[in-house]
Amino acid sequence: MHGKTVVVTGGNAGIGRATARQLAQKGARVVLTARDPARGEEAAAALRAERGADVTWMPLDLGSLRSAETFAAEFCKRYDKLDVLINNAGAVLSERTQSEDGYEMTFQVNHLGAFLLTRRLLGALRAAAPARIVNVSSMVHRLARGVDWDEVHGKGRYVGFLAYCRAKLANLLFTRELARRLGPDEIAVNALHPGTIASRFGRDGDTRGLFALGVGLARPFLASPERGAALPVYLASSAEVADVTGAYFERGRRRRPSAAARDDEAARVLWDQSVELCERALSS
Ligand SMILES: NC(=O)c1ccc[n+]([C@@H]2O[C@H](COP(=O)([O-])OP(=O)(O)OC[C@H]3O[C@@H](n4cnc5c(N)ncnc54)[C@H](OP(=O)(O)O)[C@@H]3O)[C@@H](O)[C@H]2O)c1
Repeated sequence: MHGKTVVVTGGNAGIGRATARQLAQKGARVVLTARDPARGEEAAAALRAERGADVTWMPLDLGSLRSAETFAAEFCKRYDKLDVLINNAGAVLSERTQSEDGYEMTFQVNHLGAFLLTRRLLGALRAAAPARIVNVSSMVHRLARGVDWDEVHGKGRYVGFLAYCRAKLANLLFTRELARRLGPDEIAVNALHPGTIASRFGRDGDTRGLFALGVGLARPFLASPERGAALPVYLASSAEVADVTGAYFERGRRRRPSAAARDDEAARVLWDQSVELCERALSS
């Protein structure tokens, strides 16, 4: 990875931090993103202390589309190319929350923010072609039948875990449509489930009740974030997958995602709706 520039969203904690660390150890210049300056600074400083790794941080809050735009603009000012974008940041929220853009927050953080960020960074990725995009989804996408547009607009009953499953399905539909639109020799885009990992995920007061209890009880038996970084690092750096695009990886190898995640029409609708949601929010 020497000479390559990598962005890892949510790189201050958990799987993202371990991914940033492993890619820096492979020689990449890593820019991790954090929404909290103290966390970003702490993570970048800790990773830099390891054998002189080249790690910096930049602010990004995916709950704000303007923050995604600002990040992309600032990144393009500072760097002339981007070899790998790892859309890792994600969250599950037990309480319905509305983003400043007016959309349900689980959908926005896990999908819409990453959608806008990726599109704004396509120029920098093209400048590094062949470049790669890695989307961190989840096996729980299998529990979702489709995107619920009422939910995105804050209507109907909200169940945080189900909203999360649908947002992770959106990650796969986005991967599919983006891969269709991009030439594989230009930018390869793939998605993955990192495993069930003992990170801070679901433990920061964002979840409660049975889900939080389940996460707490299971934690001692879960794999480490370093193990969770294995697939993101593989898809970001291995020559074995240089020609693979639009694929989904789980438990160490390529797998077929759910039927809902292979629905080309749903992927097109999600793309068009996401463009519209971003334009509407940014023009107001
Ligand atoms: N852990 C698992 O078992 C598991 C399983 C399947 C998929 N995943 C996926 O793996 C990815 C990483 O999760 P993790 O397990 O490493 O969780 P984590 O330890 O909670 O880390 C999540 C990262 O995302 C960031 N983040 C949260 N909300 C954000 C926002 N609004 N804007 C920007 N960044 C935000 C967090 O920043 P803060 O530090 O500021 O909160 C943190 O850096 C997620 O996409 C998750 O859905 C995890």
